Amino acid sequence: MKNTYIETLAIHGSMRAQTAENSPIVPGIELSTIYEHARGGHREGDLKYSRLQNPNRMELERVLCDLEKGAEAAAFSSGIAAINAVFQTLSHGDHVLIPSDVYFGTRKLMWEFSERWGLEIDFVDMTQLETVVAATKKNTRMIWIETPSNPQMFITDIEAVANWAHDQEIVVVVDNTWSTPYNINPIDFGIDLVVHSTTKYLGGHSDLIGGVVIAKDLGSTMDRIRSVQILQGGVPSPFDAWMLCRSIRSFPYRMRAHNENAFQLAEFMTHLPGIEEVFYPGLESHLGHKIAKLQMRAFGGMISFLVNGGESSAKKVVASSRIIKAATSLGGIESIWEHRKSTEGPMSETPNNLIRLSVGLEHIEDLKMDLCQAIEASLTT
Ligand SMILES: Cc1ncc(COP(=O)(O)O)c(C=O)c1O
Repeated sequence: MKNTYIETLAIHGSMRAQTAENSPIVPGIELSTIYEHARGGHREGDLKYSRLQNPNRMELERVLCDLEKGAEAAAFSSGIAAINAVFQTLSHGDHVLIPSDVYFGTRKLMWEFSERWGLEIDFVDMTQLETVVAATKKNTRMIWIETPSNPQMFITDIEAVANWAHDQEIVVVVDNTWSTPYNINPIDFGIDLVVHSTTKYLGGHSDLIGGVVIAKDLGSTMDRIRSVQILQGGVPSPFDAWMLCRSIRSFPYRMRAHNENAFQLAEFMTHLPGIEEVFYPGLESHLGHKIAKLQMRAFGGMISFLVNGGESSAKKVVASSRIIKAATSLGGIESIWEHRKSTEGPMSETPNNLIRLSVGLEHIEDLKMDLCQAIEASLTT
């Protein structure tokens, strides 16, 4: 279904081919962990054991692969398990470039494990190709990108990095959790691997944890990722795979509304007293706006902003909302926000007056009102 529009693909990409009259339109959940062996011995593609492959996971991998225009996808039990699988494809002595602003879990994973795995890592500013080029070494084998980055919303020109890296035989990976395939398909720009925390927009309802790696090409890197998936065993359950396929069917329409609400709210916020700066790539004032406009179809549902008055003001704002819930994570239909540095902990490099807002699908006027009253309340307490 690769040439179909995303709305159609999201609905039909995980459906089963009709094999008999009265077949269910919605596939069932296949809980069996084991499959009866063919009498004449195993044939290529036979199901054997649910950790190795399962019909619900196959449906999920098929639709995710198509959404990202890839050659193959491997689904995982969480976004961080998918990230881990990508780093496990590297070898002892390899060097990796990671954005200086990056999902804190990725940073922590690298801090804790890279040395034991024998990986050399450097965190670099990826808003300029020159800094990426300058940080590259003879043993650099992978460049990790987030665009927009979590939580400061820096933008990277992914085509420029991919073009340059491929001449050096470096694998380029984009964690596309924030932008989603509705807004950008990194593979269109030459990116080798795309990673998602499907917990976020693809799941969309804050009720499941999942991850995926999608590869541009079949080959040894994807074979290794498949080995990590099966041999290290971080696979999603049939129920989680089914839930995610169900959620993906409405993903493009949810994403359209996330984009719309966030764009309107970000513009509104630039005029609010009490806010020092708004980071949203859709704003012309954003440093990465020009590149974002070239490579993204829309600018996503995440906004980060700095409030006047430092950390205590930021915490008061977060505590004063009525509709927007104070919670971590993102991508659900409900709006949530958090004082990001508190969540990341003492090693965090996030500004201490930064609030990270995941804009949900409530009516925009209710969100504007809640934001205004939270800022006002924080000024009077
Ligand atoms: C950009 C990004 N990647 C990966 C993850 C990790 O995903 P999970 O929580 O599903 O393991 C997150 C979680 O917040 C994220 O924001």
